[in-house]
Amino acid sequence: MTTQTQGVTDEIVPVHTPSRFYEVHVGRNILQTAGDLVARAAGGEAAAIISDSHVAPLYGDCVRASLETAGYRTTLLQFPAGERNKRFSTLATLLEQLAQAELSRRDVIVALGGGVTGDMAGLAAALYLRGIQVVQIPTSLLAMVDSSVGGKTAVDLDAGKNLAGAFLQPSVVLADVTCLHTLSKELFVDSCGEVIKHGVLADPVLFAELEAHPITSPHYDDADLARIVARNVAIKRDVVNADEREQGVRQTLNLGHTLGHAIEAASDYQLGHGSSVAAGLCCVTRAAEALGWCEEGTGARVERVCEAHGLPTNTQLDCDTMMRYAVHDKKRHGQTVNLIVPTAIGSVEIRTVDLDQLREVIRLGCGKQ
Ligand code: GLY
Repeated sequence: MTTQTQGVTDEIVPVHTPSRFYEVHVGRNILQTAGDLVARAAGGEAAAIISDSHVAPLYGDCVRASLETAGYRTTLLQFPAGERNKRFSTLATLLEQLAQAELSRRDVIVALGGGVTGDMAGLAAALYLRGIQVVQIPTSLLAMVDSSVGGKTAVDLDAGKNLAGAFLQPSVVLADVTCLHTLSKELFVDSCGEVIKHGVLADPVLFAELEAHPITSPHYDDADLARIVARNVAIKRDVVNADEREQGVRQTLNLGHTLGHAIEAASDYQLGHGSSVAAGLCCVTRAAEALGWCEEGTGARVERVCEAHGLPTNTQLDCDTMMRYAVHDKKRHGQTVNLIVPTAIGSVEIRTVDLDQLREVIRLGCGKQ
């Protein structure tokens, strides 16, 4: 006898950007009911699930069955897992496969997986037939709290990560925290970098909870994790609602990223994105405190919470190397960079700094010449 676990939707976070209204459903075992939720949000007759070689064997059949029960004709497209495959060549193969599956403008792409899958399936949806709907089903913590919400899609170029993409808001996002049971400890820890970032950015209560109980601890059950994911989504939602295309306040989501991207790129992407952001966040907070831009004690609190989650709090890179990678960041404008700086736990400001000031931030934050 098989037992079907009943799905529980813990929270629905509405997102209201200028280009689209949609809901983020956060819950437990909601993959089993994905078909109905996709049909309600996106309609259409055919659904192409795009997933990678890690996630498709775990959840592909379940999502496919649910879509078919809801009346969809389905196809499951699988690409090799890994950031190194987030390239135009993989995207081109997926686009050809969508055409072979005869998806029409009314149909829908379902992105099932982590950040790489969401980015690439989202971009395929933005390009195929000049744009069809995409549903995001994130299965990693990083994708649940960050990349599945807000409509950024991209592939990498030789010159850097995410340098070719488009904005396409999803029709609905389904975050099933029970998928986190199959996420490796390493990837779970890595994702915590973005969760801590959200606390520093906008939520002293969330940050205090992370200080009291790291989300890597057994203190949290699935319902707690759903609450934490929903809180993170709401923080990002507030920013994206105000500035869908990153002309202003959305830049604050890049807290920790200017130095974090440099650390990530210098490691040749061997250090995870969330871990790199954690190290970048600690460095920029220490520098902000030393420069009198930030409430005293903030750097030590951020460092402690990152450490408690098993995340790095600094880098071994020297100042010249950090500068070389930081100035290649796509967020640089000529000779200045918009640096996101914490002013206290729960608030940040955007400071436009020149390259000399950036070097000083690196020197103070990383403790290197
Ligand atoms: N991950 C930053 C953003 O979506 O804007």
